[in-house]
Amino acid sequence: MSFDANAHRDASLQGWEEAAAGWVRSQELLREFGAPVSHWLIDAVAPQPGQRVLELAAGLGETGLLAAELVAPVGGAIISDQAEAMLSGARERAATLGLSNVEFQVLNAEWIDLPVASVDVVLCRWGYMLMADPAAALGETRRVLRPSGRVALAVWDAIEHNPWASLPGAELRERGLTPPPVPGAPGPFALGSADRLRELLEQAGFAELRVQTLQLHRRHAGFEEFWETTLDLSRPFHDAVLARPQTEIEEIRAAVRKRLEPYEAAGGVLDIPGRTLVACASA
Ligand SMILES: C[S@@+](CC[C@H](N)C(=O)[O-])C[C@H]1O[C@@H](n2cnc3c(N)ncnc32)[C@H](O)[C@@H]1O
Repeated sequence: MSFDANAHRDASLQGWEEAAAGWVRSQELLREFGAPVSHWLIDAVAPQPGQRVLELAAGLGETGLLAAELVAPVGGAIISDQAEAMLSGARERAATLGLSNVEFQVLNAEWIDLPVASVDVVLCRWGYMLMADPAAALGETRRVLRPSGRVALAVWDAIEHNPWASLPGAELRERGLTPPPVPGAPGPFALGSADRLRELLEQAGFAELRVQTLQLHRRHAGFEEFWETTLDLSRPFHDAVLARPQTEIEEIRAAVRKRLEPYEAAGGVLDIPGRTLVACASA
């Protein structure tokens, strides 16, 4: 590996603990943006009443909590994430939904603290590409699945299909505020190739693979909402921008707005495309 895996793990944990409050603040927008992905993942594994579901890198548990409703009342879901602060948000969401068949577990998906063959379904939306060793995490996923158990996952497609991220990112890079991505290092777009994803799933021993792309829309009432949501959801963006003096923050804001103009419609409404890869497979 051309990056320091343990340094990445420490920084990732700290960053996501810090990001959780912003994720809770922006959770409704995130839910709308990510709903087609969650529904694809759930349909792909078709959780049945009585089954045990594990969600990895769950964040606020948006996908796993949908599955919990389907496996109730006898079955249940384990909503897991490395970051305790994310799981507190997930606990609140489960309480709002009135779900009682859900457990929460802090765990690193690269070494899942659960017995062999102990779950029927694993779900992971936008998690594996952030892990230091996604191959290890997929191996662990298969280990905890019962024979013929199913995994469904989403990872971002290549960054050029995701202007909601590439355009603000380019502004910061051109200003020298963030480094260019290190090839082979984890990050939001690190697994943005269907062939690579297929290869990783095959190497982990999965069968009956299905990999496809899903087109998404990041919709905002106006640029202000996009800006605030981006500060809430992306810790690297938040840290790089807010470390600058106020006048420069205003310049960055105006420059990002300009870059997004092609996606602005009447009344300032933004509709920015995104593309994710989704996959499912059998253990
Ligand atoms: C982009 S967020 C996605 C959250 C959620 N799955 C969703 O789609 O809304 C990534 C989440 O992955 C978690 N994560 C990253 N690396 C992890 C690892 N190695 N083990 C467990 N969780 C991890 C982070 O803490 C964060 O909550």
